Amino acid sequence: MLNKKSILRIDDLTLDDVAKVMETADSFTSISKREIKKVPTLRGKTVVNLFFEPSTRTKTSFEVAAKRLSADMINFAASSSSLKKGESIMDTLRTILAMQVNLIVIRHSDSGTVKMVDDNTPVPVINAGDGKHQHPTQALLDLYAIRSRFEKFEGLRVAFVGDFLDSRVARSGTRLFEKMGMDVSLVAPSMLIPEDHSDLNVYSSIDDVIEDIDVLYMLRMQFERQDRKFYPSVREYNRFLSLDSKRLARMKKNSIVMHPGPVNRGIEISDEVMGDRESPYDNILIEEQVTGGVAVRMALLYLILG
Ligand code: CP
Repeated sequence: MLNKKSILRIDDLTLDDVAKVMETADSFTSISKREIKKVPTLRGKTVVNLFFEPSTRTKTSFEVAAKRLSADMINFAASSSSLKKGESIMDTLRTILAMQVNLIVIRHSDSGTVKMVDDNTPVPVINAGDGKHQHPTQALLDLYAIRSRFEKFEGLRVAFVGDFLDSRVARSGTRLFEKMGMDVSLVAPSMLIPEDHSDLNVYSSIDDVIEDIDVLYMLRMQFERQDRKFYPSVREYNRFLSLDSKRLARMKKNSIVMHPGPVNRGIEISDEVMGDRESPYDNILIEEQVTGGVAVRMALLYLILG
């Protein structure tokens, strides 16, 4: 079990915790491959998805994970709730807690709100993405995907490419990957890099790293968080930061490409590399990230509530 109430930041987890999550996820991966994808482990527990920002992957993944463990899952959509009638977030929380739920999964555009919810609730809270701050479960599922292709983490060369400035995925991922001994760098122009990027190596073009790295992590351009234009044009973006089949062909044998989704096709990754129903390239791990994400979230729910 995890010896902590909530997971708000990746630094809330020790190396032992991370290992425990990975190993537990392995045992839950097999459940998702069965015909009856359900075990009674969390029967009688109630989990609430409290999402104040849009989500496809994270919200659905937590819902599938909870249901596969037989927990009851309640999906709270802020846009159709009494928040629209002026009820405060704290009164909404009070109402939800009065229903005696066991765990809250929360996404909000403001990291302060996620912390405030955790400070004011006796039940565990999992951060499902707070503004530009953190997305710890995404970092864990990304690590799980990397683990499926490499025997050890130490020394792996990882490059995050694109909109680092707005990315909670990269903030959590960088912390976790460095903790695991990976060599992390950024590929982004100065206007897409925050001042607090510490001592990471920075490159301005994907061509500077494409032949040397093991993990190419393409970040989503977060247009919805940008109040001004951060890159001159899509053409310029394609020239320095996009992945197409020509660049893919230059990557090392056994190297992999990741993206947290949703992908802006033709910006971060070309249509041709993405493919129609699936990518024609077996080193594009986008769906594997999603599949493993369910097992990782089952592991977290089990280790916190089990
Ligand atoms: N990766 C991720 O957080 O995707 P969603 O916004 O669809 O949840």
